[in-house]
Amino acid sequence: MAERYDESSGPEFRADAIARTVDVLAELAGGGKALELGVGTGRIALPLARRGVPVHGIEPSRAMVRRLRAEPGGESIGVTLGDFATAQADLTADGPFALVFPVFRTLMNLTGQEAQVACFRTAAAAHLAPGGRFPVEAMVPELRKIPAGQNTVPFRTGPGEWACTAYDTVTQDATCHYLQVIPDGRGTARTVPFRYAWPAEPDLMTRPAGLRLRDRWDGWTRAPFTEHSTQHVPVREKPPA
Ligand SMILES: C[S@@+](CC[C@H](N)C(=O)[O-])C[C@H]1O[C@@H](n2cnc3c(N)ncnc32)[C@H](O)[C@@H]1O
Repeated sequence: MAERYDESSGPEFRADAIARTVDVLAELAGGGKALELGVGTGRIALPLARRGVPVHGIEPSRAMVRRLRAEPGGESIGVTLGDFATAQADLTADGPFALVFPVFRTLMNLTGQEAQVACFRTAAAAHLAPGGRFPVEAMVPELRKIPAGQNTVPFRTGPGEWACTAYDTVTQDATCHYLQVIPDGRGTARTVPFRYAWPAEPDLMTRPAGLRLRDRWDGWTRAPFTEHSTQHVPVREKPPA
C-alpha cells in the first residue's frame, strides 16, 4: 500500500480537503503537541507540523514511515513503531499531548471490538493531557445502500479503477476491495479489512476511558451531524484536572 498511497485520486487527498482538516486540528491542538494514530506517509502530519504544531506519530508499517521520512520535513515527525491499540509514545520526550487523533477511517483498521476499546484507553486517554482533545474521522456504515439479499456496496467505478466494500452484518467486519489497471496494462488488487460501528457504539466504548463527547460534526467543515451524514467527526475530551 505504501508504494502507491500518495497517488490516490480519493477526495481526501485534495489540497482543499487537507487544508480544512489541518485548520481544525491546529485549532483543537490549542498551541500544544499532537499525536497522530496511524501517521502513514504524513498526508496530515506534515502540513500540520508546517502550521507550527509539533506532531508525533504511531505507525506499524516501516514502508509507510520510509515514505514519510522521504518527504520534506519528514524527519521532524517522531514515530513510535507499533500498534496504536497498545503502543505507548514516550510522554516525557514526545508529549504531553493536547491532541490525539486518527483520521481517514484509520480507527476502523482495528478489526476487533476489544482492540478498539484498548485504543480509546491506551492511545487516547493515556496519552492525552487533562483537557486534551480526541477527534476521530470515521464513516457512517453504508448499510442502507446494500440491496436486499446482497452484501456489497461499490464506491468507485472506472476508468481503470473499481472499488467496493463487502459487509458482514453479523460480525461488523467489512472488507474494501480495490482493483486497478496500472499504465502498462497490468492489474493490481488490494483488500483492506476493517470493523464498522454506528456512532453510538464508540460513545459507549469511550466512557470507561473517561472521555466525554464535546461535539459531533458531519466532517471537518464542522457542519452538524444529521441522518443524511455519510461520515462523522466526534470530538471527545479528557476532563481538565
Ligand atoms: C488509511 S491510512 C491513513 C494514513 C494517514 N493517517 C493519512 O491520513 O493519510 C491508515 C494508516 O494506519 C496504519 N495502521 C493501521 N492499523 C494500525 C494500527 N493498529 N496501529 C497503528 N497504525 C495502524 C496503516 O499502516 C496506515 O499507515
